[in-house]
Amino acid sequence: MEFSIKSEHPDSRDLCVVAGIFEARRGRFSLFAKQIDQISGGYLAEFLQRGEMEGKLASVLMLHHVPGMTARVLLVGLGKEKTYREAEFRKAVRAAITALDAAGSERAFLSLTSGEAPRARDASWRIRQAVLVAEETLYRFTRCKSKDAPPRRHTLRHLTLAADSRERSASETALFQGRAIAEGIRLARDLGNLPANICTPEYLAETARDMASELKLACTILTPKKIAAEGMDALLAVARGSRQEARFIHIEYRPPKNKDKPVVLVGKGITFDSGGISLKPAASMDEMKYDMCGAAAVLGVLRAAARMALPVPLVALIPCCENMPGGDATRPGDIVRSLSGQSIEILNTDAEGRLLLCDALAYARRCKPAAIIDVATLTGACVVALGHVASGLFTQDEDLARALAQAAETAQDRLWRLPLWEEYGEALKSGFADLANVGGREGGAITAASFLSRFVDKKTPWAHLDIAGTAWSSGKDKGATGRPVALLCHYLLQRAQAGDAPADKASS
Ligand code: BES
Ligand code: ZN
Ligand code: MN
Repeated sequence: MEFSIKSEHPDSRDLCVVAGIFEARRGRFSLFAKQIDQISGGYLAEFLQRGEMEGKLASVLMLHHVPGMTARVLLVGLGKEKTYREAEFRKAVRAAITALDAAGSERAFLSLTSGEAPRARDASWRIRQAVLVAEETLYRFTRCKSKDAPPRRHTLRHLTLAADSRERSASETALFQGRAIAEGIRLARDLGNLPANICTPEYLAETARDMASELKLACTILTPKKIAAEGMDALLAVARGSRQEARFIHIEYRPPKNKDKPVVLVGKGITFDSGGISLKPAASMDEMKYDMCGAAAVLGVLRAAARMALPVPLVALIPCCENMPGGDATRPGDIVRSLSGQSIEILNTDAEGRLLLCDALAYARRCKPAAIIDVATLTGACVVALGHVASGLFTQDEDLARALAQAAETAQDRLWRLPLWEEYGEALKSGFADLANVGGREGGAITAASFLSRFVDKKTPWAHLDIAGTAWSSGKDKGATGRPVALLCHYLLQRAQAGDAPADKASS
């Protein structure tokens, strides 16, 4: 979709203008709705008087022949002004976009980005969020359908976003950022939605390679021989059962003249998780094509960051393979030596994500990271704990926890912190190797995080995001969500704004 910014008034080409109504006994005009009411000689007020628009959050009313207006007017309910916050803003925008698209308004003017704001949010925030919500709402995955959906003559193509003239330049920047982040989210969703017979480890590698040449990033792809030579045997232990070869993607974004240490992002890239010899039950096993959503998110973030030309160097490390049973597959009880030198007893081949990640985390050391963040659809236990609302955050670094929590609030891409105390490590004791890859059912999301913590150098700020519950939705609107691309992009924007923390500056 196309976007533009316009101060004060709609563009004369806009076919529909969106005006907010707050909830009250007879509705209450937003500043913009008030203006239209005045232009129309009190025409809108009649609808409010008759109780046809009470301003209930996300309710809509399309008005076709408003006196004094050539464009149609879409009234959208904002809920009570006192409770008009970030989530309400997003819901109202979503309702407006859905109604505009259904009504076939090709060009529309959204006034909600100026005037009344959710508490503590400025024009930039509203512009960025409006772009993200609009793109999210109109996203469809149709690549695998042989026929296009019946063509519709009119769909929403262009959205003009209102901005105060005083905030013009900040709004333009926000629009640019919103577009870049939306592009990263789209990439992550597309990759997540592709089935495992198309989106193989090599397909992910190719995607990274293409992106690297398009955006001038440095990219190295390790094939099994090279992965073995590096010593990443834990990753190879997962790949053994599959005909699909493993790939290890190493891709870097370095802003010009920037010598800072990079933020290293690690993404779990299991293109299909059957469980291996510890085979999963059949129900919903198709959803395990989404087990590469960590990898997809990391690629999406890199794409967005490069597009935004953020002054923060980034490295993405993405171990990719398929977890399948087979004659040569890893067996429960097998012991492998990870890149870190620690030996691992693989008691359950379905706890494979941590095996890829432990090698990638050990590899990350050589990048001299300012911080490491790994992203993985790691445990069903995290879904049990937090449902589909919040991603799980695990870290021992208070500053990183605070920064990520703030970014999550700003992005409205939520996370919730769970503990990562030493005691949880007890569960991973093995009589045969340095540690076991599973610790039993209790606290499963935490023991998984605890496993990973053994492979990160204690001095490096590190956070683990478990996105098993948030990377896709099941049911009616089944599909990849693109989370937590928005969250991580906002974290990087924050970091760019603050300038690197002095501690990170001491570059080697
Ligand atoms: N990819 C799964 C985690 C998962 C499960 C994500 C359900 C989304 C929905 C992961 O590889 C896995 O199988 N984890 C096991 C770990 C267990 C064997 C310790 C799990 O959560 O059951
Ligand atoms: Zn998995
Ligand atoms: Mn698994």
